[in-house]
Amino acid sequence: MNVLLIGSGGREHALALALVKNPATTKLFVAPGNPGTAQVATNIVLDVADAQAVIGFCHVQHVDFVVIGPEQPLVDGLVDALDAAGIKAFGPSKAAARLEGSKGFTKDLCAKYNIPTGAYQKFAEKDAALAYAREKGAPIVVKADGLAAGKGVTVAMTLSEAEQAIEDLFGGAFGAAGAECVIEEFLDGEEASFFALCDGDKALAFASAQDHKRVGEGDTGPNTGGMGAYSPAPVVTDAIAQRVMDEIVNPTVAAMKAEGCPFKGVLFAGLMIGKDGPKLIEFNTRFGDPECQVMLARLDDDLLDLLLACAEGRLPERVNLSPKTALTVVMAAQGYPGTPKKGGSISGIAEAEAAGARIIHAGTKSVGETLVANGGRVLNVVALADSVGEARDRAYRAVDALKFPDGFCRRDIGWRALKR
Ligand code: AMP
Ligand code: GLY
Repeated sequence: MNVLLIGSGGREHALALALVKNPATTKLFVAPGNPGTAQVATNIVLDVADAQAVIGFCHVQHVDFVVIGPEQPLVDGLVDALDAAGIKAFGPSKAAARLEGSKGFTKDLCAKYNIPTGAYQKFAEKDAALAYAREKGAPIVVKADGLAAGKGVTVAMTLSEAEQAIEDLFGGAFGAAGAECVIEEFLDGEEASFFALCDGDKALAFASAQDHKRVGEGDTGPNTGGMGAYSPAPVVTDAIAQRVMDEIVNPTVAAMKAEGCPFKGVLFAGLMIGKDGPKLIEFNTRFGDPECQVMLARLDDDLLDLLLACAEGRLPERVNLSPKTALTVVMAAQGYPGTPKKGGSISGIAEAEAAGARIIHAGTKSVGETLVANGGRVLNVVALADSVGEARDRAYRAVDALKFPDGFCRRDIGWRALKR
């Protein structure tokens, strides 16, 4: 079977490594991929925003299955176009991807189907939004409705921050994504991520994970795409996981089916676990990056079989994951999450892997024989061990074996789990 994987990050390198393990994968193409995926697959240049170009490539190369990593092609309807062309794909339709693409859609769905989340209201007009924020007071959360590359959310601890966020949003800071906004109750608790595979009809719990969104140690500084993660997340006990499935994931899958847009793919629930149990912060309709890297490090089943089962509406009864903890430290380029310094040389990968970790590529580039940084998040150092502490020690031993003078990482990945 020929497979096309779309994306270029650490998530896609991890997906590629897992997809090629299945002997049924005859050929794996990655568009555009990175130097990591190039080691196990064929990187190709393809405009993935152009559905007809993707379909044309699939026909010429006899691609049987397309796996889509990032959210934008999903929200743009690539799965619908592939489906219409008779090409199987892993991921939700455009209508189902609204769970990620429109925060207002998700909040309305939660309200209609009684799915636990923060109280909210939607606004298309600045003055009404300002009046609501003033009425509710701080802390309060202001969100652009659409995709804003992770920058559309302001957790305002003061009313003036909330007012500024509303001004920015309606002033066009997020373009069309900010034409509408959601103002939401501030939720208190510990954040965690929960992933379920869905086939339109049913959901199968996959794994929990915890990300580290802020750039600085102790969860300080600006938000990033994620500076490190581990799986499982100890805060998601078996009892919490069961509640997440019963109260959030299964009702959402049933609701999407009832609304005529069944959800297929991976449902990523961003949760706040507070004193009343889990509440939904947001959904994403794809694997998280770097959460995917740690979850796949624990996966004992075959990934291609699971993804095909989602696409074909035949989810298995269970999924087998190692009880060990996988932890990843993200190596980023100086400047990230602002403008990252590109071109910094990277070496020591073999030494880092000899220290017991797997090095996953994200924003890297090969220039002749040298590997250089080519993006914000550059490498993931992934370690698997019996405990969070051991996984952390192993990951940092590998980090210390890497030579990337223009890079940096957080030194405290795993702190919440270790504090328990
Ligand atoms: P998002 O970009 O939607 O993942 O949101 C970014 C971050 O904002 C989340 O990871 C949370 O830390 C925080 N956040 C979003 N909504 C809320 C909320 N209602 N209460 C508290 N924190 C929130
Ligand atoms: N690491 C968070 C995300 O992928 O959205």
